[in-house]
Amino acid sequence: MMGTMGKGVKGRERVSQSADRRLGRGACRGAGGRLLLASLALGICLLAAGCTAQQPDIFRPGGSAGEEIRQLALQIFIILSVVLATVWALLAFVVLRYRRRPESEASQTRGNLKIEIVWTLIPAVIIVVLFILTVRTTQDLALPDSGAQFTVVGHQWWWEFDFADQGFATANEVHVAARRQVSADVVSTDVIHSFWVPQMGGKVDMIPGRVNRVSFVPLEEGRYLGECAEFCGAQHGKMRFLFVVDSPEEFSAWVRAQQQPAAVPEGAEARAGAAVIATVGCGGCHAVHGTSLEGTFGPDLTHFGSRGGIGAWALTNTPENLLTWLQDPQAVKPECLMPRVALPLAQQKQLVAYLEELQ
Ligand code: CUA
Repeated sequence: MMGTMGKGVKGRERVSQSADRRLGRGACRGAGGRLLLASLALGICLLAAGCTAQQPDIFRPGGSAGEEIRQLALQIFIILSVVLATVWALLAFVVLRYRRRPESEASQTRGNLKIEIVWTLIPAVIIVVLFILTVRTTQDLALPDSGAQFTVVGHQWWWEFDFADQGFATANEVHVAARRQVSADVVSTDVIHSFWVPQMGGKVDMIPGRVNRVSFVPLEEGRYLGECAEFCGAQHGKMRFLFVVDSPEEFSAWVRAQQQPAAVPEGAEARAGAAVIATVGCGGCHAVHGTSLEGTFGPDLTHFGSRGGIGAWALTNTPENLLTWLQDPQAVKPECLMPRVALPLAQQKQLVAYLEELQ
């Protein structure tokens, strides 16, 4: 799956990344071509619907660090290809030229000092060249320190993006402006996680009690998948986020929208849901700014309806999936800290209507 996500497509129309991955794995494992074909067909349908974020692809970088790392990888690949081709060519020559003839016996000679020196020097020079290229790239990756614009907090198993200076926080989805340096502090509240948007650049560990900094310049506008790159427990595989590179104007609009308090519900169902959510304890963990919900333990839900995923992209954000999630989060994401919302179905549906209106 190499699709780019249609920029205008609403989050809820996107297809679950986990579904894509299952697709990919199914295709690899399948004994027959039928499964592969079915997967391809479904993949093409998804592409046609323009409904998925770019699959992480380190060969198509969208940021400065990713591009430099790709170039380094390419240089090393070319150098080592030349080495491999040379060795194979010499090997083939020797095998053909000096193959055993019935009457001959191999001449027995001792080591040749000149040759020993030559084939020690050649690899040493190659290693030194690779070392210089790597160090140079590593130096280029270090951008000037311009202070962090936001803080990324790793939780088991979701992402918090805290824009303290702008007065808002969001979860599992973050926007940045293209062609401007992004610098973020990365921290963790529980175990070691690792911040990674493969097309932007390398991984940065998120370590409890320590503040690390990640910096790069996003170059290509688009929607990218971010993921946790350090095993962090049962749901490490379902700890993903959407990383959106906007034009500077779109980014400013996104910030302004995030700063707004929660939308006042309009539909009857949603209004009923607003009354329900205030009474069932969601506010113990979640915040919905402009209401009585002020929890900070779980994801901020103020603009939940505008986001594409549920439970760090365990599910895509559709009303049906949200109902599934509320009814039994442990079935979707075992060991996550979200408890089931034990309410009659009618009230669960009111909650769904309310949350989806929080655009
Ligand atoms: Cu967090 Cu792996």
